[in-house]
Amino acid sequence: MEYAVSTRDLTRKFGDFTAVDRLTIRIRPGEIYGFLGPNGSGKSTTIRMLCGILEPTSGSGTVLGYDLAGEPEKIKRKIGYMSQKFSLYDDLTVYENLDFYAGLYGISRRERKERIGEMIGMAMLTGSENVLAGNLSGGWKQRLALGCAIISRPAVLFLDEPTSGVSPASRRHFFKIIRGLASRGTTVMVTTHFMDEAERCHSIAFISEGRLIANDTPENLKKNVIKGCLVEIEIPGGINRAADLEKLPYVRECSVHGAAIHVLLDGEQYVRDLEAYTGARAGVITPSLDDVFISLSRKRRRTAP
Ligand SMILES: Nc1ncnc2c1ncn2[C@@H]1O[C@H](COP(=O)(O)OP(=O)(O)OP(=O)(O)O)[C@@H](O)[C@H]1O
Ligand SMILES: [Mg+2]
Repeated sequence: MEYAVSTRDLTRKFGDFTAVDRLTIRIRPGEIYGFLGPNGSGKSTTIRMLCGILEPTSGSGTVLGYDLAGEPEKIKRKIGYMSQKFSLYDDLTVYENLDFYAGLYGISRRERKERIGEMIGMAMLTGSENVLAGNLSGGWKQRLALGCAIISRPAVLFLDEPTSGVSPASRRHFFKIIRGLASRGTTVMVTTHFMDEAERCHSIAFISEGRLIANDTPENLKKNVIKGCLVEIEIPGGINRAADLEKLPYVRECSVHGAAIHVLLDGEQYVRDLEAYTGARAGVITPSLDDVFISLSRKRRRTAP
């Protein structure tokens, strides 16, 4: 199979509103596919269609070769899904939660013990088997939820913002596990708002208002999306001055990054002009994925009909 996931013009409407708009994507087996986009851009809606739990309005797609419209039940049995609001049973222990999901997936009694042990090891929950899920902290809960989602050893795993609300250390931990799964052949589609996570994906799709507007490796996106000369500048009252700077003829766009402003200039020859105008030093920087993300979000808004 060439693609684990593939769609053609996949569309979902809610009444007159188009949440996902003619989306065409392809994900290779074993790939970690980052699915990025602003709030409300249609990420969860897409994932729900790919999981076979929401019917597409039009367009088509396959997951593991099964048709989205015609074989959603087959898809549901073959994939793992961790929803944005995943649910564990707070009043069951770690072990009992895994046992419950093993039952849901129809894993035989004989095999269950071994699978649960495997998940506990993978999720680094050894020693916490008898702790109530409700008493686990955020990062641990997320790893347990992952264990529940992959206890059936799915070939494709859909993760919808799996790391929102957990510490940076836990997020890194979580992604290490994801990388491990992918290196052993699992295909992973993951939505995230964190650029350090996007950086660890093999491929990134960026959607806005339901439409795909960029799809490439993190390296290529950084190389190709930002056109011009990007500089960083720190000026007092920076946030309030970003809009002001954007009015300069040689400034393409500005974005605020903590205390600093990133300014995209038409070319390197304007660095001096910017320094003269602001009275601050401007240093040329290489674009980060954050810059790419911001730039793509704005482009879409500007060209929106
Ligand atoms: N069942 C529904 N009925 C009506 N509108 C919906 C429904 N589900 C989603 N939407 C709308 O579709 C759009 C896309 O929602 P979706 O949840 O897919 O976005 P998202 O990219 O996952 O956002 P977030 O980053 O906030 O999770 C939103 O405007 C949302 O309000
Ligand atoms: Mg969502």
